Amino acid sequence: MALYLITGGCGFIGSHLASALLARGDRVRVLDDLSTGLRDNLLPGCDLLEGDVADPALVRRAMEGVDGCFHLAAIASVELGLRDWLGTHRVNLGGTITVLDAARAGRVPVAYASSAAVYGEQARMPITEAAVPRPLSSYGADKLGSEQHARVAGAVHGVPSCGLRFFNVFGPRQDPRSPYSGVISIFCGRMAAGEPVTIHGDGRQTRDFVPVAQVVAALLGGMRAASVAAPVFNVCTGRPTSVLDLAQAVAAACGVAPDIRHGPPRAGEIRESFGDPALSERELGLGAAQPLAEGLREVVAWLRAGSPAAGVSR
Ligand code: NAD
Ligand code: UD1
Repeated sequence: MALYLITGGCGFIGSHLASALLARGDRVRVLDDLSTGLRDNLLPGCDLLEGDVADPALVRRAMEGVDGCFHLAAIASVELGLRDWLGTHRVNLGGTITVLDAARAGRVPVAYASSAAVYGEQARMPITEAAVPRPLSSYGADKLGSEQHARVAGAVHGVPSCGLRFFNVFGPRQDPRSPYSGVISIFCGRMAAGEPVTIHGDGRQTRDFVPVAQVVAALLGGMRAASVAAPVFNVCTGRPTSVLDLAQAVAAACGVAPDIRHGPPRAGEIRESFGDPALSERELGLGAAQPLAEGLREVVAWLRAGSPAAGVSR
């Protein structure tokens, strides 16, 4: 039985990871400041250290005696990064360096959340890990910075790590009420309530929507693959979906006719984004991801069952 630290363990992805670790008999310690995460997401049996992932003394304490650290705590919004550049940088890059620094003493392996946002606009689809990263957002730049610091941590300080470049993750427990939430939770929340949805721009922009179960499998594989060479992997399905098609698919999952409005395009919006999963399938042992329609039905079922987050506005 191993003990793992999950930073951001009260959040959407972190709480699914905690369930998987507990289910296989491991112990879980969570560090979270509950800024977007929910105490309700903390599973029985998990210890919570409440505080800031960029606080070195707290993170050192959280790291004591652990066999590995999953680092997920971040301000996970491209839009918030545009508005509060310095504040998000402190958490998104500063937090990662704090975690890597605390992992140094015990050479604790770190599997951490990077993002497809590191790629920015790419000419060739699907995007492979060999593409030259050109982030278009401060959020993406901080994730790329996290990867670079992980490389230094391995080469200079012997800290094993693995970076997972998540594409657009979705699933139950993603807060439908937050304007900074992912498009799937927003569309599902609004359509299930009979409300209209707003598409930013013409809706022909594409994304690669990854079910959260696939992300959890990638994190577990990433922990096994962590090394001082600091590898990074795409976590994606390889299937592009336009936002327009997504709106239709969500409407079908909700059993409603879609009421779609169009707003102005977002600043710094990436037009086309879908990844090549071949490397992660080979190196992390990932199987094919669940089809989108099936995943959407699970989100809608969770919402209709009275999700804890559905009544909370943050
Ligand atoms: P989330 O907001 O649900 O989870 C983030 C967690 O981190 C929350 O529990 C929050 O309270 C916590 N947190 C934020 N700032 C903190 C701080 N200063 N100190 C301690 N805890 C803090 O988001 P998520 O979707 O679960 O994202 C998890 C990770 O995956 C993030 O690193 C995010 O950047 C990354 N990621 C997510 C997606 C996606 O589509 N959801 C895609 C790419 C990468
Ligand atoms: C998302 C992630 C980010 C991750 C990145 C990886 C979230 C909140 N953010 O950013 O953490 O690093 O993927 O690629 O999951 N849209 C609408 N209407 C809405 C909401 C969104 O049209 O009401 C559109 C957006 O303009 C965008 C697409 O849907 O084109 C996806 O948006 P969003 O879910 O916010 O994700 P990204 O910005 O791609």
